[in-house]
Formats: sequence, C-alpha cells, structure tokens
Amino acid sequence: MKDNLQKGKLFDNALLKNIRSKFLNVSMDPKSKKKRIFFDNSGGAFRLKAASNVFKKIDGYPDCPEHGNKTAKWLMKTQEKGYESIKTMLNFDSGSIVTSYTASIVMFNMVRTVIENIPGKNIVTTLLEHPSSYDAVTSYANKNKKEIRLAKTNPNTGGVDVKEIVKLIDKDTALLVFMYASNTSGALLDAKRIVKECRKIKPDLYIIADAVQHAPHGVIDIKEVPVDGLNFAPYKFFGPRGFGVGYVSPRLSKLPHDKLLAKPESYWQLGSPAPAHFAALTEVVKYVCTIGKYYLKSKDKRELFVEGMTRIKLHERALMHTMLEGTSSVQGLRSLDGINVYLDCKDLRKKDFIMAIGFKKLGYKEAVIEYERYGIITFERVISSPYSARMLESFGLDGSIRVSPLHCHSLEDIEKFLKVTKKICKKLKKQEANLLLEKI
Ligand SMILES: Cc1ncc(COP(=O)(O)O)c(C=O)c1O
Repeated sequence: MKDNLQKGKLFDNALLKNIRSKFLNVSMDPKSKKKRIFFDNSGGAFRLKAASNVFKKIDGYPDCPEHGNKTAKWLMKTQEKGYESIKTMLNFDSGSIVTSYTASIVMFNMVRTVIENIPGKNIVTTLLEHPSSYDAVTSYANKNKKEIRLAKTNPNTGGVDVKEIVKLIDKDTALLVFMYASNTSGALLDAKRIVKECRKIKPDLYIIADAVQHAPHGVIDIKEVPVDGLNFAPYKFFGPRGFGVGYVSPRLSKLPHDKLLAKPESYWQLGSPAPAHFAALTEVVKYVCTIGKYYLKSKDKRELFVEGMTRIKLHERALMHTMLEGTSSVQGLRSLDGINVYLDCKDLRKKDFIMAIGFKKLGYKEAVIEYERYGIITFERVISSPYSARMLESFGLDGSIRVSPLHCHSLEDIEKFLKVTKKICKKLKKQEANLLLEKI
C-alpha cells in the first residue's frame, strides 16, 4: 500500500476492534479503573499484551543466557531472534546492535564514539532535537573543541527544512545528527533527502538519526536511508520500559568504543544479555506483521512489517485529519473558536500524529488538568521545562498542549476529544462574559 493518501485511511471496524483487544488499558486508567482516553502516547505508548506477557514470563527465568544448560541456550536463541526482529524493523543486513537502559544512553554512546574518533572541525545538528542528542552533541563537541552548527526550525511546518541542514555541512563536518520526527510538533524531517544532499557535499559524512518518536508511526529503512547510527525506545513502540535500542553501521561499529576486550571489534553489547526485552520486541514485530497480513499475502516478514506500519500510519493520518477538520457531528480543531493549532503543517503526509495546540484563554498546565477532569490525558510542553524550551523558543511559542494518540484509537475517541475541547472553550467564554459583567 502506498502511504501518500492525503487524508489517510481508517482500519475497518473489525480490524480496529481486534487491534484494541491486543493492547492493555486502551480505554481505562489502570490505577483508578476509570474510563479514560489516553492521548499521551509520545511519553510512553499503550503496551501490547503479548509483549508485556512474554517479558514478564521470560524475566522470571534465572538462567544465564551465556551458560550451557538447555534453558540458558533457549534464552540465548530468544535473544538472537530479537536481533532478527530488529533487522526486520529497521531493514539492515550488516552493522551491529547496541542496547542500553534508555535510548538516550544509546545516543550518547554513538555521538561520543563519532566525535572522539572522526576528524573534522564542526558538528551539525538542529534546534529541534531532543536533549538526548542535542546535549550529547554539545557535551562531546565542547570537550573535543569542535564547532556546533545548528539548523533553524520552520514554524510553518513544525520541522526543519532540508536546505537549512545542507547549508551547514562542509568538508570539515565530522558528524550530522538529526531527528526523524519531532516530539514537539510531530513534523517529519525528510530523512532520505537530508542524507542524500549532505553526502553530496561530504560523501563519507557520519550521520546519526534519532528515530524515537517516529518508530511507532512509520517505516524506517536503513538500506534506503543509510545512516551510521539510529536509536528507538521500545516503550514508545508498544513494548516495556527500561530498554533503548540502536543500530550502528559497519564502519561506526568498528570505531573505538566501550567494550569488553575479548569481544569482536564491532561488538557493542556490554554485559549480560536481556532476553526478556528482546522477546518483547519480537512480539511487537509479530503484531505489526499481523496487521500487514490482514491486507497482504506474503511470507516475507519485512514486507508484512512495512505493510503493517503503512496501515498504522494511514489510520493515524485519517484520525489526525478528523481531529483537525471535524466530522458532520463535531467541529474540528482548525475551526474551533478559542483554540490555536500550532505548527499546523497543511500536508499531513509530512507529520506523525503528534499535535501541538493551545486554548486562547487558558494556560497549558491548566488545560491539561481540565482535560483530565473529562478523562482525557494530554501533556503540557512549556518554556520553563528544559525538555521543551529550545524547541518552543525556536518557533516563537511559550508552550503547547501535546496531544499524542495512537493507532489503537477510534474515530469515536477523536469525536469525544473534540466535544470536550468545545465544551472547555464554551466554559471559558462564559467565564469571561461573567467577569466582564462583574466589572460593569
Ligand atoms: C525524540 C526523542 N528522542 C529521544 C528521546 C529519549 O528517550 P529516552 O528518554 O527513552 O531515553 C525522547 C523521549 O521522549 C524523544 O521524544
């Protein structure tokens, strides 16, 4: 399936029902047991039941995967299957896998390895980056006395234009770091063109990409977009917390890095294996392939995975379009008096389903609290937070309410959100009118 449909395409009802049944807590708060709509999946996504179950089960085995007893050997095989699952997700044949407690640690390791070993006077990155890559670049560039060059953002798209990155690259650039999708605006950076255009200027340029926010929303293809390093976070991709995953290209894998001396030159895993985490990733891949199988007859795992992710993207785009434009029974965000849609990229093919909005008459933190009163979970991004300040400032914003649904959501969830949003707008208008009356 081509993914270029402007308005996306919803799953049919039977498939959506099946998808929802495969996840934990899709419509209920696991703590209070109250009904809710969870629109904070950028902070941690719904858990796939199969991933959660296999994680708990395998984590209960005391056996050391590197030992020789039968169960231990089976655990090692489970981990190796996980490596294959990561290859299916990212599409690469050569290179190494690196894992750690978080995606941020993986990013710091990759950035440090390149900056410490590759000659060049400058490092290029963007103002939009998450602190995990931005701070890694800043720390190691300063330590190694390299100039940092920052590509500016585009407030019309919520992203960074290719040309803004390309113009900073020269023969002396040691490393480029950019993100696939923004955790502030959902905007997609044109990864394929960035890599192609930048390597026209410096053919052997080292490039590292942050795919943490994009991985659960679309296809990643290392063969098509040959970066040297890429990371993602399983807990934002339907799996458990406490794990970060990275890919390093053959040439990056061989640069001097932290490793046990007895291990091969290109080996990046450090310490005991974690088969439970890898088993969970295998379940995530199986699940996405199941969606692929619903639409496509194939025995090729990668082909099914790509189809599954493409259908996920299309369903999310259809929901995003509805959220912006509304339906016959409810008004969309773009036309709601009292709402600002920030960084409102008109071409939804260039955006993952992460929205930045604001009420004209209500603070961001207050709005998030108000939504929660109605059983809707969102998150405020405010300029006082180090996780948001640089990105928001680059767009001239002082904050936003981040709304981040997932493909498990339905049209009804979006309609309910829009109705609640309208209700809050009306309430604010009434409050304002009452205040005016009091003053008279
Ligand atoms: C775009 C992006 N990159 C990196 C990270 C870091 O992930 P983690 O905190 O799991 O290390 C996040 C976390 O939200 C993110 O949104």
